[in-house]
Amino acid sequence: MLSPSSSAVILCLFAVIFPVRGDHHIDEHSVECKGNHCPKPMPDVYQKPFRPKSCVDYYVPGKSTCGIYRLFDEHGNSYPAYCDFKSEPGTAWTLVMSWANINRGLPEFRQTPFKYDAPINENSHNWYMYRQSLKRIRSLAAHSTHWRATCNYPSHGVDFTDYVRGNFKDFDIVNFLGSGVCKKVEHVNIRGHIGTHLTARFWQVNDTFTLHIDSGSGGCDFDPRAGSVSSEDNFGFYLVINPKFRCTKRKFSTTQWWFGAHL
Ligand SMILES: *[C@@H]1O[C@H](CO)[C@@H](O)[C@H](O)[C@H]1NC(C)=O
Repeated sequence: MLSPSSSAVILCLFAVIFPVRGDHHIDEHSVECKGNHCPKPMPDVYQKPFRPKSCVDYYVPGKSTCGIYRLFDEHGNSYPAYCDFKSEPGTAWTLVMSWANINRGLPEFRQTPFKYDAPINENSHNWYMYRQSLKRIRSLAAHSTHWRATCNYPSHGVDFTDYVRGNFKDFDIVNFLGSGVCKKVEHVNIRGHIGTHLTARFWQVNDTFTLHIDSGSGGCDFDPRAGSVSSEDNFGFYLVINPKFRCTKRKFSTTQWWFGAHL
């Protein structure tokens, strides 16, 4: 008498020597061979888990809606972040910082460069007082090609009024420290002065300035001095403000910094 397992082996060999055409028969034989020498399906553990590092990992053009998404830093820790998929089609932007004019004196917004850890409300996004931790900022920068600053995004979206955008290759804003240095931008607009692919003058100094342009100063390609107030600060620091600049027009006007990537 043949044992049940040896008949399974014989059936399996039979299937190899005399392959049967048609899905129905193939299925029958693969059931018989289970646990012997025939291939098994790959278990799910070999599939890579979905660990989005920035908003671009969620981006489906024409479908994605703006809002809070779950991201992962380089250490695998998850965190909530605001994603903008709409304002510049083809680019997904992740929010890094946002604050209201009335909060401009807080050290997180006045005097702490990107490369120093100064998180505030990092797990409960809001537009008036928000900054990601340094770990998240570094992780997002590593998965982004571009950066930008916007004014009043929650109420105006992005219409490129009072706006600056650059790329990390030309200007790494996370690691930059310096005073009045000419740095390349892709596009800049301050009170109607517009520049494209030129240098603008930036400041960022530990315990002194968050990243900003002082539009009271010339000296680089972009010259926004006409109509400025003396030492006018734009996109950060805000020791001297101009109500004609949209980020500092009213108490609850807001400034945003974002990191982004193209599809
Ligand atoms: C930045 O400034 C703060 C406050 O003065 C100081 O404690 C810190 O050591 C500085 N960091 C570096 C790397 O210089």
